[in-house]
Amino acid sequence: MQFAFVPMILVCAIATGAFAADKPNDVARGKQLYTATGCDQCHGTHGQGGAGPRLAPGPIPYEGVIMQLRKPRVRMPLYSAVVMPDSDVAAIFAYLQSVPKGKAASEIPLLKALSY
Ligand code: HEC
Repeated sequence: MQFAFVPMILVCAIATGAFAADKPNDVARGKQLYTATGCDQCHGTHGQGGAGPRLAPGPIPYEGVIMQLRKPRVRMPLYSAVVMPDSDVAAIFAYLQSVPKGKAASEIPLLKALSY
């Protein structure tokens, strides 16, 4: 009976490893989807905002992102699971999470020189 658990643990370990390995691909795929599906038209090339609010860096939680896509609050078009499966939303979310924070003004010499 104990031996039945060993293959299960192995399967879990392999599956977890596979997910970890998928992460960088998700970011690249998410970036491609973000542009190809037009998020950038309203939310900016890197999610910095435009006609729509800023999405990155520091996106809202995944649950909020998927809720907005499936049931947009006001002006945003709807993205149903038919046109954008959950796996694509997860990839876009991985991309938004990967957008680095900008430097603080105090770390930029030209801006530092201008500060009083
Ligand atoms: C036509 C313009 C437009 C497009 C295209 C668009 N959005 Fe939006 N988005 C908006 C607007 C406007 C809002 C503000 C809420 C509303 O009006 O529904 C919003 C809100 C959001 C929010 C909630 C942000 C917050 O802080 O509450 C998320 C997340 C989001 N959009 C993600 C996306 C993603 C991902 C895509 C691409 C699949 C996308 N949007 C495409 C216009 C757009």
